[in-house]
Amino acid sequence: MSSELSPIEKAKFVAAKQATEYVESGMKVGLGTGSTAEWLVQCLGEMVREEGLKIKGVPTSKRTARLAMKVGIDVITLDEAKWLDVTIDGTDEYDTDLSLIKGGGGAHLHEKVVATASDRMIVIADASKKVDTLGAFPLPVEVIPFGLPVTQSLIEETLNGLDVLGREVTLRMKGDAPFVTDEGNFILDLHLKRIGNPRQLGLVINQIPGVVENGLFIDICDVVIVGHGDGRVTTRDITNNTTNVVRFDVLDDDNIFSDIAD
Ligand code: 5RP
Repeated sequence: MSSELSPIEKAKFVAAKQATEYVESGMKVGLGTGSTAEWLVQCLGEMVREEGLKIKGVPTSKRTARLAMKVGIDVITLDEAKWLDVTIDGTDEYDTDLSLIKGGGGAHLHEKVVATASDRMIVIADASKKVDTLGAFPLPVEVIPFGLPVTQSLIEETLNGLDVLGREVTLRMKGDAPFVTDEGNFILDLHLKRIGNPRQLGLVINQIPGVVENGLFIDICDVVIVGHGDGRVTTRDITNNTTNVVRFDVLDDDNIFSDIAD
């Protein structure tokens, strides 16, 4: 099975594997959404089944909830958990301050609520997610369906006064219909190309009526774990200003990959 994994999938896997070092029995763990977070859920599921790890998982999407239950993780709601020890999630972009753009999978609203209700947020990624300046990835903004054209116009007008390079706003589609989030809302993708002041942009966009939440995560992420296709993993922790590199030798072990990839 390992030979079927592309370098990028190997990178996501080793990042997820390294992130499990932050999870201990008794913890309440926020489970992110997306292809990288799915590796994490698979790894934690394996630890639950084979090593007796005892955790409660709070999924950030219906998709993640289904996978977590399938792999044997005890799933609870955020209301039941009240507060989490750690949330581990993927990202679409991260910069040197560990500011993020999230929401490529349409789950940034729940992801932000869950991450904010956690002692620590850890991002897992492959190296392609690192940027000098946020904004090449379109910024997702969750909006209510009511008054959509008005909300979109207000966003477009607001962007005229902000330090961004592009100003195109598009409604995210799934086939012929708008993409609908787990909260029943729509997503507008803001094609900004370059965001000069992410903190200001996030605050201003959220002031617009009809906007529920944008995909900028500022001062939320504490640690980024970056995997590489050759098994190297770099962990950067901005809470204690440390960077560590480890290397996994598991990439040729068919059993490990077949366990988690099937
Ligand atoms: C979902 C997200 C994901 O974390 C983000 O899109 C990254 O996904 P992937 O790990 O598949 O690249 O924010 O809303």
